[in-house]
Amino acid sequence: MAALKALAAQLLAWVLVVAGCIAFGQQPLSSSLPLAAAQGVTAAGMGMLLRSERWWVAIHLVFSPAVFLALRFDLPPGFYLAVLAGLTFVFWTTFRGEVPLFLSSRAAAEALLELLPPRPGLRMIDLGAGTGGLLRRLAQARPDAHFTGIEHAPLPYLAARLNAGGLANLAVRRGNLWREPLGEEDVVYVFLSPRVMPRLWQKARAEMRPGSLLVSSSFPVQNVAPEWMVAVADRRGATLYCYRM
Ligand SMILES: C[S@@+](CC[C@H](N)C(=O)[O-])C[C@H]1O[C@@H](n2cnc3c(N)ncnc32)[C@H](O)[C@@H]1O
Repeated sequence: MAALKALAAQLLAWVLVVAGCIAFGQQPLSSSLPLAAAQGVTAAGMGMLLRSERWWVAIHLVFSPAVFLALRFDLPPGFYLAVLAGLTFVFWTTFRGEVPLFLSSRAAAEALLELLPPRPGLRMIDLGAGTGGLLRRLAQARPDAHFTGIEHAPLPYLAARLNAGGLANLAVRRGNLWREPLGEEDVVYVFLSPRVMPRLWQKARAEMRPGSLLVSSSFPVQNVAPEWMVAVADRRGATLYCYRM
């Protein structure tokens, strides 16, 4: 759906910009970079009208100008293939409108550390662990607790495996977070996207034990009041939304 919206915004923007050129008596192909810039602005506007996620709007803005600039450099086709492969291995299913890779800050990790109950043997899972930096910090600070990371994108998963190196209380697995049972976890941490929060809440309600804690960074569960919230002093101004099961 998100990919279709993106395609529609791009195509419509080109139609509008070319139609505008013709209407004002300009040759559409005479000045390709300004034309691409105009298309980028129009596509970004379309993206906003179609209520696309913020990162799609940013992509629309730069996509066509970037294509025109890249064409000027006459780069070999293998370069584009390599970039595509790299982005695929990092972002994996983001094109389907799911969750992109962006990482919790050090301040968020410290705030989360404060939230972890002091009980030895505590189990915490990060669903969509990214490159595993957050889990590494927590696992180092709490050697008495056990941490698990689940990540499906290949390159972040490899980075997370490296980050887990030497820590016996941190396990990182490649997998789909929706297939991960949550019944054994005391704390479930997520930093995903608003789109997936309703489904995540259903999963948490169905699987998490009474008394366990769901912590969502930045994205609250729609229409569910968190038991408490923690403001994180980082550049993003993140909030941790805490839900006791
Ligand atoms: C916003 S990042 C958060 C990374 C990390 N939890 C942190 O806080 O630093 C979300 C991560 O979830 C991963 N992800 C998205 N959907 C997933 C899925 N269905 N199964 C496993 N991982 C997923 C993405 O690849 C991305 O690395």
